[in-house]
Amino acid sequence: MSYENITLEQPEAGVFLLTLRRPRALNALDSATLDELAHAIARVAADEQARVMLITGAGERAFVAGADIGEMQNFSPREARAFSEKGMRVMRALEALPVPVIALVNGYALGGGCEIALACDWILAAENAAFGQPEVSLGIPPGFGGTQRLPRRVGRALALELLTTGRQMKADEALRVGLANHVYPASELVQRGREMARAIASKGPLAVRLAKEAARRGENLDLGNACALETSLFALACATSDQKEGMRAFLEKRTPQFQGK
Ligand code: COA
Repeated sequence: MSYENITLEQPEAGVFLLTLRRPRALNALDSATLDELAHAIARVAADEQARVMLITGAGERAFVAGADIGEMQNFSPREARAFSEKGMRVMRALEALPVPVIALVNGYALGGGCEIALACDWILAAENAAFGQPEVSLGIPPGFGGTQRLPRRVGRALALELLTTGRQMKADEALRVGLANHVYPASELVQRGREMARAIASKGPLAVRLAKEAARRGENLDLGNACALETSLFALACATSDQKEGMRAFLEKRTPQFQGK
């Protein structure tokens, strides 16, 4: 499949950089873009050498300015359902990627843009980032998971305020409420993301995947079962040569050579 609305690059081994590119609509998500996203995510999911994925928007103004309003305006309920389900599948696939996924939010992350960022494992924001769920201004609630992931990330009260007023949240507030992990000058954002990706890629690849799996799968379990899951994955890691290498290298005071095995 060749892409028209996104690019998927591998700037260094194991590090994928996915960029949303629909400049005429501030990178808004239409059905074709969602299909391309689904395809690109599946490619990363199938790549055993993948270590981390970065997602950003092309240009200086927007990460993603929402779902495409032009496409949605004449939706029948049946079409709206199919569009929402397609978006939901993309967000679930992002969340389920076995490697960490970092959103680099470089401007507007509104509606579907905020929902993509929420489906990533964490967010690095540019100083000009603006988050929001403005759908109520258009006469709809969010449809790609915003009503569910935003309360889980920032708490129900603040999420409901944002979901019902549609107000935009700037980068400094996003940092304060835990929506963004860090804020950087816009000109540094991709570089900082790549540095973080490189740091992750230097760790034990299976250990990184197991840590994400434990945290993500454990979210839907009670604490006892979640901790039992962690125990199983911890034990599984001790069947890998990476664990032997990582500990041997520590004791021999050298850098480990992980093989992903
Ligand atoms: N869907 C389709 N097109 C969009 C879009 C969207 N979600 N968001 C922006 N665009 C288009 C605009 O229609 C405009 O196209 P035009 O140049 O052909 O007129 C272009 O992108 C630039 O947007 P514009 O509104 O002129 O830029 P701005 O700087 O004045 O405002 C925003 C930027 C993001 C505040 C504004 O575009 C906006 O509110 N977008 C919609 C956000 C939204 O409601 N998202 C949720 C959708 S469910």
